[in-house]
Amino acid sequence: MNYEKHALRLTNTYPAIEDLRRKAKKRLPFVAWEYLESGTGDEKAVDRNREGLDKITFIPQFMKGEMSFNIETELFGRKYSAPFGVAPVGLTGLMWPKAEQMLARMAARNKIPFSLSTVATQIPEDVGPEVGDMGWFQLYPPESNELRDKLIKRAKENNFHTLIITADVPVPSRRERTKRAGMKMPPKITPYFIWQGITHPWWSLATLAAGLPRLRTVESYSPSKDLATVADFVRFKFRGNLTWDYIKEVRDMWDGPIILKGILHPEDAEEALKVGMDGIGVSNHGGRQFNGVPAAIDVLPEIVRTVNGRAKVIFDSGIRSGLDIIRALSLGADFTLLGRPFLYGVGALGEIGGDHVTAILKDDLTNNMGQMGIKDLQEITQSIEVPT
Ligand code: FNR
Repeated sequence: MNYEKHALRLTNTYPAIEDLRRKAKKRLPFVAWEYLESGTGDEKAVDRNREGLDKITFIPQFMKGEMSFNIETELFGRKYSAPFGVAPVGLTGLMWPKAEQMLARMAARNKIPFSLSTVATQIPEDVGPEVGDMGWFQLYPPESNELRDKLIKRAKENNFHTLIITADVPVPSRRERTKRAGMKMPPKITPYFIWQGITHPWWSLATLAAGLPRLRTVESYSPSKDLATVADFVRFKFRGNLTWDYIKEVRDMWDGPIILKGILHPEDAEEALKVGMDGIGVSNHGGRQFNGVPAAIDVLPEIVRTVNGRAKVIFDSGIRSGLDIIRALSLGADFTLLGRPFLYGVGALGEIGGDHVTAILKDDLTNNMGQMGIKDLQEITQSIEVPT
């Protein structure tokens, strides 16, 4: 499907990410929606992310003559068309079947990175050919070194050149809201579940065609392929043992850039530099892991000060607009990622949903740059003085 043919209509019908969010909410069964949207606990961390971004304002400047914009961004020696990309999202096919392939193709078309999660529902072998040279792979660190080495090899062999190691899942999140919504392992086909299928026909048809979501990358290493066993396998064998030595071992194995994602403490940022990380991922997992965290944007300046140009800083958690991207860049981030918004796009519009999210973000980014009297992203980043 050609996005350009629909761009004008979509821009008028869904001018903001929030419009796609509302549409996706209607098209997704309740349990899938709640999984996508939820934080943890009473979700104050999600609210804090939003409040932290909203309080950053700028004084506009005018009389800058003709406004034309350059938002191309170089990261780790590679050019991207904009300073943002798709964050890793697990169980992706629950939100929309084959969302991974859709977003991978979108990323290749738009020249922005797409991150494939270890616990995605599609495998690197199937997504790699779609993503062109825009593929990043996210590693949930397995306890078994043998399994770790296999996953890393598969990512490398299938086109993924940048590795994200996720640090912020030392224990599984409680996610009370998804439990309330009936997300159970193993999934139970109850009358309510059937009713949800009937009332969300597009999702149901797409799921019938693609099959129920499975954690396909990791299931082949699990004792059995049934979803409950695979989920337990991930729960108990994938996170508890992360140490700096482990990160260093991965560093020695991966010859491309590595981002350590979920870093909020300056001491962790400093250690990450010592073990050779190329990127520090300032993130609180979109408020999904620890409800006691500050807004990710609030700790960004201190991490930038600590890193002080020795690595790239990649920010996520709460971004919903181009203005939010400017906010993160203005505090020293080199690049940004978005999780939920790209799934709102696919949930609302399918194949071209991610293109529309990208178009909204780019337009909002340049529009706000215009208001600020900025033509080149460099002007945002160069105006930042690292406070001493
Ligand atoms: C995530 N996130 C995530 N991160 C990761 O490293 N591996 C993963 O498998 C997942 N899975 C996942 C599922 C869902 C449904 C969401 C919403 C998020 C976190 C993600 O990469 C990113 O940090 C947040 O989504 C950023 O916040 P926003 O953009 O969603 O506000």
